[in-house]
Amino acid sequence: MRQEGTIALVTGGNRGIGREVCRQLAAAGHTVVLTARSLAAATDAATGGEVIPWPLDVTSEDSVHRAAEAVAERFGRLDVLVNNAAISYDTWQRAVTADLAVVREAAETNLYGPWRLTQALLPLLRRSDHARIVNVSSEAASLAGMGGGTPAYTASKVALNALTRMFAAELRAEGILVNAVCPGWVATDMGGPGGRPVAEGAAGIVWAATLPDGGPTGGFFRDGRPLPW
Ligand SMILES: NC(=O)c1ccc[n+]([C@@H]2O[C@H](COP(=O)([O-])OP(=O)(O)OC[C@H]3O[C@@H](n4cnc5c(N)ncnc54)[C@H](OP(=O)(O)O)[C@@H]3O)[C@@H](O)[C@H]2O)c1
Repeated sequence: MRQEGTIALVTGGNRGIGREVCRQLAAAGHTVVLTARSLAAATDAATGGEVIPWPLDVTSEDSVHRAAEAVAERFGRLDVLVNNAAISYDTWQRAVTADLAVVREAAETNLYGPWRLTQALLPLLRRSDHARIVNVSSEAASLAGMGGGTPAYTASKVALNALTRMFAAELRAEGILVNAVCPGWVATDMGGPGGRPVAEGAAGIVWAATLPDGGPTGGFFRDGRPLPW
């Protein structure tokens, strides 16, 4: 039997690209669990359409498990997971002198966060007929063109790309599509002024979140077009 109405969960949904991804998914008629570290911030952002605010800190095992339990109780399944939350675009650092505490902290949110959340939600994603996982990455993680700089951020996103490949390979037979998406340079708190509008950055993420069955998996994309690993 075909499952009606897509249920999507987005991390870091209170501002920036995550908030816009929630808005676009809700506008397209999907039910969105808009998560944020602060419930108040999630509630403020949860407007327009079927948008449910929920507190979720991806670095906390407890918080992740409470969110998974809440989705299980309310919906019994999950169709789309967007691992969007990230920190530490460390433009002030160089790899040769980087503070490893900052590197570790970035990995906790940008790598282990998506990893633990995806593991926790996998039983619910497996109950979907059309499960999609989107890891929001960055072209900074492309080894093909890699230079120096932003070491904590870059290393964490390179590892997130590797995770994308492994999850895609391990879940391919189950029809779960797993892709990494770079939103481009976007004018948010992280991106700063001068980047493109959030709507444009978010659109490529929504594209990967709503791929048809048989769509690509294990890929790295921006605006629906492949990027070099
Ligand atoms: N902006 C760009 O130019 C650009 C370029 C390439 C890739 N990206 C990627 O796009 C994604 C979104 O970036 P953005 O520009 O929208 O960033 P942003 O404006 O800095 O927003 C980051 C979001 O992540 C949340 N967050 C941070 N730590 C968290 C945690 N432990 N648990 C849950 N949520 C947490 C923040 O919540 P709080 O409000 O609580 O801090 C906020 O909602 C990131 O993965 C980023 O790496 C952005």
